[in-house]
Amino acid sequence: MNLPAELVSLLRACQRAAALTGAGVSQESGVPTFRDSQSGLWAQYRPEDLATPEAFRRHPKLVWDWYAMRRARADSVAPNPGHYALVAMARQIADFTLITQNVDGLHARAGSPNVIELHGNIRRVKCFDCGKPAAEWHGDGQSVPTCAACGGLLRPDVVWFGERLPPEALEAAWAATRACQVFFSIGTSGLVQPAASLAHVAKEGGATVVEINLEPTPLTPWVDFFLRGKSGQILPALVTAVWG
Ligand code: OAD
Repeated sequence: MNLPAELVSLLRACQRAAALTGAGVSQESGVPTFRDSQSGLWAQYRPEDLATPEAFRRHPKLVWDWYAMRRARADSVAPNPGHYALVAMARQIADFTLITQNVDGLHARAGSPNVIELHGNIRRVKCFDCGKPAAEWHGDGQSVPTCAACGGLLRPDVVWFGERLPPEALEAAWAATRACQVFFSIGTSGLVQPAASLAHVAKEGGATVVEINLEPTPLTPWVDFFLRGKSGQILPALVTAVWG
């Protein structure tokens, strides 16, 4: 793979880097990206119409089942070489922060330490009413499980459209983004704020911005290096080129 020599030497000397990942990083594991067309029972809905508090209020069972299907999918797949290359980067770069929009937990399963999960995690569940996390729940398949504390309906602990991101996660992401020398935007369409603005903040702070994606995105005209292709191929090639 032809990787820019300038980027390779920059990374060799890099002390502080941050990476933002999106659904594209898990695509090669067999997790459909967020904006891929839906299949089966959910083909008639747009993901944007299911991932909202209003959708859950209107059709709690439909939304619960959609996440149950996605949870089962995430559980049944394994991290891919892109996830593992990010683990390797964290070992090589003194200060490396991994920020993800993915809720599938695959970065942690691959072994990445201290992942900042901006949009939550599909394996965790909390009460829609009182917000209390549910350590365990029992679904009978017929109805949405309820909170042991208040009887409210349980929901996945992910960030829905119109909801605030977890403040500590967001603050940590901003701090790493402002401090980094190199910022990676990997497998994300860059359409959802505030995650999408991180790359711009990094650039304004003087960082070199590197994008890895199958397709150009709205960010592409702004980046210093656009590496077009699959993250599961480009990231391992980059790690090998830089650190051997
Ligand atoms: P999207 O589905 O919007 O975008 C996936 C991106 O990955 C696209 O730009 C693809 O071109 C790219 N892609 C696909 N396969 C790839 C591969 N093998 N290697 C590299 N790139 C690849 O997913 P996100 O950008 O993650 O939030 O979406 C961001 C957020 O939008 C999601 O976290 C979700 C949604 O709102 C919430 O649910 C809160």
